[in-house]
Amino acid sequence: MDYLQIEGGTQLHGSIRISGAKNSALPVIAAALLSDVPVEIENLPNVVDIRTLLKLLGILGARVEHADDTARIDASRIESTRAVYEIVAQMRASILVLGPLLSRFGECEVSLPGGCAIGQRPIDLHLKALEQMGAQIEIRSGYVHAIAPEEGLHGAKVIFDKISVGATENTLMAAALAHDRTEIINAAREPEIGQLAQMLTEGGARVEGIGTSRLIVHGTGGEPLRFPDPIRVIPDRIEAGTYLCAAAITHSKITLEDVEIEHIQSIVDKLEGMGCSFSLQGRALTIAAPSSRLKGVNIVTAEYPGFPTDMQAQFMAVATLAEDESLIEERLFENRFMHVSELNRLGADIWLKGNVAAVKPVERLYGADVMATDLRASSALVLAALAAEGTTRVRRIYHLDRGYENLEGKLEALGARIVRKHEA
Ligand code: EPZ
Repeated sequence: MDYLQIEGGTQLHGSIRISGAKNSALPVIAAALLSDVPVEIENLPNVVDIRTLLKLLGILGARVEHADDTARIDASRIESTRAVYEIVAQMRASILVLGPLLSRFGECEVSLPGGCAIGQRPIDLHLKALEQMGAQIEIRSGYVHAIAPEEGLHGAKVIFDKISVGATENTLMAAALAHDRTEIINAAREPEIGQLAQMLTEGGARVEGIGTSRLIVHGTGGEPLRFPDPIRVIPDRIEAGTYLCAAAITHSKITLEDVEIEHIQSIVDKLEGMGCSFSLQGRALTIAAPSSRLKGVNIVTAEYPGFPTDMQAQFMAVATLAEDESLIEERLFENRFMHVSELNRLGADIWLKGNVAAVKPVERLYGADVMATDLRASSALVLAALAAEGTTRVRRIYHLDRGYENLEGKLEALGARIVRKHEA
């Protein structure tokens, strides 16, 4: 198994390019199932989750050509509408094929994703929305069996009682080929939703209210979508945020290229509050962290445009070395604190009570062997290791490989002493 070995204490400098967003690329790839002609997708990040979803589409019968950061997906001849457990168990975002398969082919079976390291993560909202659009849904032998009415799904007024990124995406994709109009109330507003809604509109299903929590989809009534131009995946706001935290914790000045500043405003605001300064030139963002200790930070995770849960662990790493205490409250996932005990192994002083972590400042972190538990928790450990005295080995980095393109290469380009090693 691979692990990362990091010698801490080096300042970073220079610039790197931010990759396409994994969490935008995933629904964009799933939406290719709505088309009966090839779809081209550009700026895909080279990460395991993307390859996993492309593999699933291949198993369903789509022809997939994938090279560098581009994929061409031809879903004109789908042979199966069953998303098997073996793939869904590897990546729960596979559930995103449910909406498109059901609306285009009238029935499908998708394995239930089950829980994961950060929480239970049910899919009740996805299923309820599809039922409101006429689907009959049964759970049998670990699979969701969904059947649309003979004439296809119909529009509905879907009111989410909780904001969900995935459920909004599945509903949008199902509504795209449904009859009539679907109204989604309390929709998620993440930039990834905006990209998907824009893509569906370009493909022929008009979505109104993009960027708001009330989306209206004018379905095509069963006509597959056609995407005239390649879809270019938006930059990864969480990857950008992670490198900003890398600069902050190492008191460095670095530049990130291809950043969509609007998408990371809540992250930039928090780092500014901690003492970092920023300058933007076009789409290149430079962060300069002070040489003195950063100020503490108080964070409550929330849906976009609030502070992202996907940045909570990385900020906790930065907060460990601040000059005063920080309070971090996790409001989206009940178990997203697995990194706390690993950060404490590096010398941090973090106390957990329910869903709030009190991060008491320490003078130094010290390198140690630590274990990655989920994608963002893993990157938090890497950040802490960059600032720790001595050597840290981060194990189980397959979590990192799911969502960060060439993390060690990019950090090395910025001057970090980091190397991937393999042990039997
Ligand atoms: C997306 O997950 C992201 N994944 C997550 O990023 C991210 O943490 C999350 O949104 C929140 O921003 C992808 O985009 C692939 P949700 P998703 O449905 O869609 C509850 C990463 O590290 N809920 O918005 O699965 C749920 O349990 C990943 O890149 C229900 O109760 O998240 C959670 O508490 C991790 N019923 C809350 O809603 C449902 O049917 C938000 O989850 C669905 C969700």
